[in-house]
Amino acid sequence: MKDATPQTIYLSDYKPFGYIVEAVELTFRLHPTQTRVISKIKFSPNPDAKDGEFFLHGENMTLISAKINGADISPEISAEGLRANAPNDPFVWESEVEISPETNTALEGLYMSNGMYCTQCEAEGFRKITYYPDRPDVMSVFTVRIESDLPVLLSNGNPVKMDNGVAEWHDPWPKPAYLFALVAGELVNYSGDFTTMSGKKVDLNIWVREADLGKCAFGLEALKRSMKWDEDVYGREYDLDVFNIVAVDDFNMGAMENKGLNIFNSSCVLASPETSTDANFERIEAIIAHEYFHNWTGNRITCRDWFQLCLKEGLTVFRDQSFTGDMRSHAVKRIDDAIMLRARQFREDQGPLAHPVRPESFVEINNFYTVTVYEKGAEVIGMLKRLVGDEAYKKALDLYFDRHDGEAATIEDWIKVFEDSTGRDLSQFKLWYSQAGTPHVHVSDSFEDGTYALTLRQVHKPSPGQDTKKPMVIPVAVGLLSPNGDEIVPTTVLELTEEEQTFTFDGLGAKPIPSVLRDFSAPVVLHIDQSDKDREFLLAHDTDAFNKWEAGRTLARNTLIDMITNNAEPNADFLAALESAIKDESLEPAFRALLLGLPSVDDLAQTLAGAGETPDPWEIHAERDRLKRAIAEHCNDTLADLYFAHQVQGEYSPDAVSSGKRSLTNAALAYITLVDGGQTAQRQFAAANNMTQELAALSALITIGMGEEELTDFHHRWQNDRLVMDKWFSLQTALAAPEDASGIARRLTEHAAFDWKNPNRFRSLFGGLTSNTAGFHNPDGSGYALLADWLIKLDAINPQTTARMTTAFDTWKRYDAERQAQMRGELERILGTENLSRDTYEMVSRMLK
Ligand code: PHE
Ligand code: ZN
Repeated sequence: MKDATPQTIYLSDYKPFGYIVEAVELTFRLHPTQTRVISKIKFSPNPDAKDGEFFLHGENMTLISAKINGADISPEISAEGLRANAPNDPFVWESEVEISPETNTALEGLYMSNGMYCTQCEAEGFRKITYYPDRPDVMSVFTVRIESDLPVLLSNGNPVKMDNGVAEWHDPWPKPAYLFALVAGELVNYSGDFTTMSGKKVDLNIWVREADLGKCAFGLEALKRSMKWDEDVYGREYDLDVFNIVAVDDFNMGAMENKGLNIFNSSCVLASPETSTDANFERIEAIIAHEYFHNWTGNRITCRDWFQLCLKEGLTVFRDQSFTGDMRSHAVKRIDDAIMLRARQFREDQGPLAHPVRPESFVEINNFYTVTVYEKGAEVIGMLKRLVGDEAYKKALDLYFDRHDGEAATIEDWIKVFEDSTGRDLSQFKLWYSQAGTPHVHVSDSFEDGTYALTLRQVHKPSPGQDTKKPMVIPVAVGLLSPNGDEIVPTTVLELTEEEQTFTFDGLGAKPIPSVLRDFSAPVVLHIDQSDKDREFLLAHDTDAFNKWEAGRTLARNTLIDMITNNAEPNADFLAALESAIKDESLEPAFRALLLGLPSVDDLAQTLAGAGETPDPWEIHAERDRLKRAIAEHCNDTLADLYFAHQVQGEYSPDAVSSGKRSLTNAALAYITLVDGGQTAQRQFAAANNMTQELAALSALITIGMGEEELTDFHHRWQNDRLVMDKWFSLQTALAAPEDASGIARRLTEHAAFDWKNPNRFRSLFGGLTSNTAGFHNPDGSGYALLADWLIKLDAINPQTTARMTTAFDTWKRYDAERQAQMRGELERILGTENLSRDTYEMVSRMLK
């Protein structure tokens, strides 16, 4: 246990810093264990601040010297930083500190990865580099000098000079310290350029190790598409002469939007047809776009404090989702996003870690880079746009950029921009930022004398620290279909603002079939009593792609729940409806692939827990397998036809159409493999010339307990490719049978290639295991114990990644008494670990509350 309970930070305690930072000059003398950082910072008193205390953050460093206006001083030093007496006039602060990048295993601040120096400063990593007011509302202009023998020396902004062993960079745009970056290493660049809308040429580079040069082309093109899109859709132009991306193997997160020098987890930028799947390509394109879009939503306009994180993240996720929709398919993207939101964010909302999109307190901010802040934060933007309309949204965004460029803003500023530009009162809407939990919307209807009435009722369940909640503004997009399949009322947005409201539609000849929550217009759980017949009707006729898919998904979910709780047979009408939908050649293949997907074991456990039942992951897994087999048998011929008819011939391309066809044939393959003994998959594996086909075949085989030879062959061919080997690890733990998963995971931890200090490798093995819901929840507790052992081990060197992975336990209260006791036991064991990090301490104690 921690000696002292870590301090909680509150939004309501915000105070501006007592000084303004006019300019920053940094010199780095790089050395693996004795890097010197020399800083010269111009401060002046902040007229807007009452508190003039001069406190600079600083951790894990040795102070060599400190001066104010040239005179040596001896500041008071603590584990968090230093205090000094500072003049009430402008002054110059100078310091020299020593830090050790090589021993920095937490991967925050300046650290080393494969002989290369790199930084990660968001959220509070800059304080491990030098003494500084490390808070996002302190913005300044940085000039950086790097001294090192390494050939490539990079920092933010534009290059000023590059001589033998010395590089100088200047970033003209004031920025908070969390956007600082430095990279030094033996790197090569894949380069290109982009001419902005005002005709300025920007040099683009992706910096990698020599061996990875062949994996940069796609990323560079994705970057160009992102730059163009932000000009076309948001009117935002790039603002420096260069844009650099660096790929790093050891990284806690996906990527980081440092000004002009984005640093990427290599898994989120490097791609080639042989080593990356279609899903990898799409994700890489989205992440490159996301980080690029931060240049305006995050960097030019940043956050006043970390409680405002969703200001940049929700908006930037919303922007990258729109971009992917524009590049590929809006319908498919919306369904993908809804699946992910329900699987991860609804799960978070249902458990002990639920928190508002804008939290009001935290112990460790790293713990709040969550699906709620990011993905629900994006949903809130989407709802706002739907409520005010596209034109008004555009006007509001223009005003936002105009009004707040160069500032550190708040959610209040964001809302105000919409209020001022539309004249609308958004105070009730703002509850989306402060009330945690997923709202439930219950729908009932009636029909009389040609008038159809829809009654909507919103219900809010308590979440940690919030027992009662107020009604929110919920945009419910609705369409009505006549019994013959015609759309009689096109999509209309009903604004639910009261606890219960009735909306009427007049002049109808017959009772319509409603299509409610079209396009998943709000992140809510919808309860609507519709017959299977109505759902089959919507699956066949709905003009809204999301709800067409949703109808199929609900049928699948209902039959699964019936199979699990009543031992029912698979619903034959569902099988027939599914078969005719996947045959429909007017539907895009990627969409049909989504129709073939079933709710996950975790998703079904969430549904059952939400209905007050105790889910059994093994039982759910078994029934889900039974339904898969029934689909495979019932649709046997159709699946075979689809598989052969949609094969993509010729050279591999990751575009939306080709990858959509592969999604469909590979979804079919997974079913076919359940009934053909694996021969089709074996053939595909042997013939594959790209990773998508290879991995889909291998996955199908592992799922039926085969694929041993193929796994060996795969390992043999790919053992020198780190990113592919990550797949080799995760595949085995993710797809193992429930009773085998923890044993396989444990054996893999003993594999020579299990480099547990590398976050990607650790996440591959254990993320695979925890995604295998039935495997992780082995009733003998072996999955829990294995994960806890390794989290305890990892915490000592990397708290951030450890804390994130503790969320595997956040569903513990859902399960039966034995599983609960085992999980609670492991959580308590973690909490009782000596010198446990603040990160992990906060997560585990929240889960145990
Ligand atoms: N700000 C990064 C993003 O959203 C995420 C990140 C957070 C990366 C913290 C590193 C550390 O793209
Ligand atoms: Zn982001």
